[in-house]
Amino acid sequence: MSRRPVIAGNWKMYKTRADTRQFFETFKPLVAASRHCDITIAPPFTALSTAVDAAAGTVITIAAQNAHWEPEGAFTGEVSMPMLVETGCRGVIIGHSERRQYFGETDESVNRKLKAALQAGLTPIVCVGELAAERDANLTQAVLRRQFEGGFAALTDVEFSRILLAYEPVWAIGTGRTATPEIATSAHGFLRELARKRFSPECASALRILYGGSVKPDNIKGLMAQEEIDGALVGGASLDAKSFAAIVNF
Ligand code: 13P
Repeated sequence: MSRRPVIAGNWKMYKTRADTRQFFETFKPLVAASRHCDITIAPPFTALSTAVDAAAGTVITIAAQNAHWEPEGAFTGEVSMPMLVETGCRGVIIGHSERRQYFGETDESVNRKLKAALQAGLTPIVCVGELAAERDANLTQAVLRRQFEGGFAALTDVEFSRILLAYEPVWAIGTGRTATPEIATSAHGFLRELARKRFSPECASALRILYGGSVKPDNIKGLMAQEEIDGALVGGASLDAKSFAAIVNF
């Protein structure tokens, strides 16, 4: 089954609105002819509408990095999914390991946010992945199973078919230590198997699984050559327009 590749950039807490405008000015011509993959960029909240304006008329879509599960309410400091839709966002990252590690996100909050994103018509990019200690203790599959089952609890096939899944081993994030194509392939294969058991075979084989963790222009080709790797979620290397364009044009 051939799945359309997705290259997504997660800017984390980087870039002002001025930086964002500058990025798009350089980035757009470099990917103007790129039709082989979906391109998404997730800037911080404050730069979302700037990015949406800058990407207008291109194939680049804009996503947020997080949102609350309630549509509105007394939740100081939070932003809702319908608010993201209003800015022109098309997607949202959910359950990134930094949110799980530093902001107390759980599989249960991932599940709530996921349902809220689907309800609002956004494309969720749901992140899973094990810590170094978990991999060393041979717990990778147990962790992925727990995150998958908790995060995707009570979802229908139709809902599941709208999701992008990102496998981001925590030990590979920002460390320069990319998972080898073989390690990523094995985790992706395991996740697809979980999808096959829980959802229809069609859903499982159509599911796009992105790899994330120290993806760079010089390792993207080897990763994308793997049948099981359908794209990349890029942190550090997505901040520079030329390096992100080189990844898009793998
Ligand atoms: P790096 O590409 O900087 O390792 O970050 C990966 C990541 O966390 C993307 O969401």
